[in-house]
Amino acid sequence: MNKYIRSEKYDGSFISENWMGPNPLYLLEELCGNLDLKPGMKVLDMGCGKGLTSIFLAREFGVTVFANDLWVNATDNLERFRQAGVDGLVFPIHAEAHALPYAEGFFDAAISIDSYEYYGADEIYFPCTYSKLVKKGGQFGIVVPGLVKEFERGYPDTLSGFWQPDMYSFHSGEWWKKLWEKTGIADITACYDIPDPKGIWMPWAEWCVDNFKNEWGGDGSFDMRFLNADTGNDIALVVMAAVKK
Ligand SMILES: C[S@@+](CC[C@H](N)C(=O)[O-])C[C@H]1O[C@@H](n2cnc3c(N)ncnc32)[C@H](O)[C@@H]1O
Repeated sequence: MNKYIRSEKYDGSFISENWMGPNPLYLLEELCGNLDLKPGMKVLDMGCGKGLTSIFLAREFGVTVFANDLWVNATDNLERFRQAGVDGLVFPIHAEAHALPYAEGFFDAAISIDSYEYYGADEIYFPCTYSKLVKKGGQFGIVVPGLVKEFERGYPDTLSGFWQPDMYSFHSGEWWKKLWEKTGIADITACYDIPDPKGIWMPWAEWCVDNFKNEWGGDGSFDMRFLNADTGNDIALVVMAAVKK
C-alpha cells in the first residue's frame, strides 16, 4: 500500500498534467511528516512550478500559500488555483529566488520541492536571503534530488555520461545539513534520504518518455537512462527540515 495517503486522494491525471519532476505530492507529503503546519499559517512554496504542492498545502493543512515560481506564469497558476477552489488561500507570485518581494520575517514556514537545488546550493543563499523570509521559530523544509554520499568529482562513475552542468548541485543530505547548520541560523530537525527514490522517480521518467519526445531535441528518455545507469544506487531524494532559532 502506498504510504502517501493524502497524495493518493488526488487524481493521477491531474498530477501528471501538472508535475514538473518526480511526484511532488509524494515528496511534499514526506516532508510534511517533519513539519508542524497549522491552519492560518503563511507558507512560502518556493519553486512551486504549476502549483500542485501549493494546492496540497492549502487543502490538507488550511495554510495560506504564496506560490512562488520563475518558469511558470502566475496567471496560469491563478487559473489552476481557481479551478482547484483554493484561490482564496493560494496566491501565485512570479519572482526569481534572489529578487523576492516579501518582507523579512513574513512567513511561518518556507518549503521547496525539487527546486532549491537550482538556486540554494551556494554558501550565501540561506543566510542572506532564504532564512530572512521566515520568522523566529518558523520552519524550513526542502526536498532535493541528490546523492547518497559525496564524490570527489561530484558524481559517481556510473553516471559520468549523464552529468549535466546544473546537476553539480546534487549533494548528499550530510552536505546540505552542513550548509545550513554552519550558519547558526537554524536547528536541523530532520535530514535523510527517502527510501526507494527510484520507486518515486521512475513513474516521472516513464511519463517523460511518452510526453517529452522531440522536446529539447531529445527522445524524452534522459531520466529513464539516468536512473537505469545508477547501478550503484547513488541517487537520492534528500529531505531536510529546520527551525529558525
Ligand atoms: C523541476 S521544477 C519543479 C517544480 C515543482 N516544484 C514540481 O515538483 O512540480 C523546478 C522549479 O524551480 C523553479 N526555479 C528554478 N530556478 C528558480 C529561480 N532562480 N527562482 C525561482 N524559481 C526557480 C522553476 O521555475 C521550476 O518550476
